[in-house]
Amino acid sequence: VKAIKVKAIRGEKGSMRYVSIDKIKVGSIIADDILNEGGSLLLKKESQFKEAYRKKLKELGITYVLIDDEISKGITPTRLLTPVQRQALEEDIKNEFETLINRMEVDYTSMRAITSVITEKIKSVEAFYEMVDLKLNDQDTYAHCISVAIMAGFACRRLYLNEEITEKVVMGALFHDIGKTIIPKDILNKPSQLTKEEFDIIKTHPELGYEMIKEYNEFPPLSKVIVLCHHEREDGSGYPLGKGAEVHLGVKIVAACDVFHALLSDRPYRQGLSIEEVIEIARKEKLNQEVVSAIEATLVKYPVGSIVELSNGEIGIVKENFYQDLERPEVRIIFSNGKYKMGHRVNLQEEKEIYIAKNLDYIPEVDE
Ligand SMILES: [Fe+2]
Repeated sequence: VKAIKVKAIRGEKGSMRYVSIDKIKVGSIIADDILNEGGSLLLKKESQFKEAYRKKLKELGITYVLIDDEISKGITPTRLLTPVQRQALEEDIKNEFETLINRMEVDYTSMRAITSVITEKIKSVEAFYEMVDLKLNDQDTYAHCISVAIMAGFACRRLYLNEEITEKVVMGALFHDIGKTIIPKDILNKPSQLTKEEFDIIKTHPELGYEMIKEYNEFPPLSKVIVLCHHEREDGSGYPLGKGAEVHLGVKIVAACDVFHALLSDRPYRQGLSIEEVIEIARKEKLNQEVVSAIEATLVKYPVGSIVELSNGEIGIVKENFYQDLERPEVRIIFSNGKYKMGHRVNLQEEKEIYIAKNLDYIPEVDE
């Protein structure tokens, strides 16, 4: 059996694949700029990965890196937002939050501009191709709100809500946790179990948020209701009002996206859960199950650039996703019959007897 020697090459422009920070090899070529929270450049694209970077990047909450190598040749992940766009969006929403906290005049034009960055992006891509766009390693309320807004937008489209309603839902999602910005950070980010009193304080955030926005007439009523009711549940067990299933569909969408994103994200006391695990939990929660299915249908488990093992034992890299069935992408084989072998493609849309057995985080190593 031959050893896998994947050459680190500077391939075609835009060729890249995901490698988890734990598995990336020293000498790998970074395929895209890596930015820190403040938007400044940490690692320039085309630079070589060094062992010393690993710990540093992990500390900064970076879990995946895009690399360029032989395997990624011709693979171009579809990305909703570039790191720079994501950064700009975060800055904008942070400014809006601060304006609201300080009770200054709200600039509705810029609020709408932020919303339309997301709604326009959603129109331009077919499905939710980018788990990395969700930013699963950030404790910041605004980063969470942006991710939930993106998910909510996709769910709206999947549920055939019109543009006008989608915009209001996305806007509500962008601000849904604004009340958390005035909850003490030591309670919000407490790594251990919360006491009953602490949890009661956290539970005030929907009402606090609603208080902050309710007097602004330009803010759509549906968006306001989303801020107030995003912790309500179908059976009336939620808070603050104990409303049940009668709330607007848009509220249910944001409530479910909030749960999905929270479970997918890393927390100080646990790693983020897999999509499969999250769906299993969401099925048992008192969320609207039609909405849960819609979200499930927009999450790409095997995005372009990820390594998967097929039911026939072959291993390959995902080349293309198909919106009609995200479970069955086209895969370019890199490992077959215990050997490293680049080449043939398996389109799971056509080869119905083969399916994806698991998502791999690595390329298997074999001895020479
Ligand atoms: Fe919340």
